[in-house]
Amino acid sequence: MFSPAGIVLRMAPLRVLIPAAEIRTRIDALGARISHDHAPGPVCLVGVLKGSFVFLADLARAISIPTRIGFLGAKSYGDSTTSSGSLTISHELDLNIEGQRVIIVEDIADTGLTISRITQHLASRGAQSIHVAALLDKPSRRTAEITLDYIGFTIPDEFVVGYGLDFAEDYRQLPDICVPVR
Ligand code: IMP
Ligand code: MG
Repeated sequence: MFSPAGIVLRMAPLRVLIPAAEIRTRIDALGARISHDHAPGPVCLVGVLKGSFVFLADLARAISIPTRIGFLGAKSYGDSTTSSGSLTISHELDLNIEGQRVIIVEDIADTGLTISRITQHLASRGAQSIHVAALLDKPSRRTAEITLDYIGFTIPDEFVVGYGLDFAEDYRQLPDICVPVR
């Protein structure tokens, strides 16, 4: 249990669920698999803002084939821990993916709504293939039918923060994936 130094603690104290070193090892393995599966490339990594920014930065550096990077802004949560059920595209993809192999890079698959809608959206933009990489998978809350091709860790139904994931915009910069202590 710890209180990150200098950070306003709105749901603290926190407990480390997945330490940074473990995340790194897992992402290196995912990067190697993606490099193998999509050789000789290029592959387009499409990060879903904002939660995926840390994962995408590390995953991209673990991939050894030519890689292009774009971001798409999507929001399925307001400032709460429950899904609003609707998805808004807040930033259109800044990359031409027509005829390209695309990998959606998400921080976490929860209900699956975000990934399902983004997959449809990218298909309409002419991608040759669409795969999904999710750092975390919370399968117990799934309502939309999705396929995750690359999963970092499967976790129980707990609200997690850190490594890009937020609670009302706080905690994204924590190097570990953490959960509030009950
Ligand atoms: P989905 O559409 O229900 O699958 O929700 C996916 C989005 O909800 C993720 O991209 C996250 O931004 C957010 N989310 C879901 N679970 C958590 C969590 O435990 N912590 C922080 N954000 C979460
Ligand atoms: Mg997200």
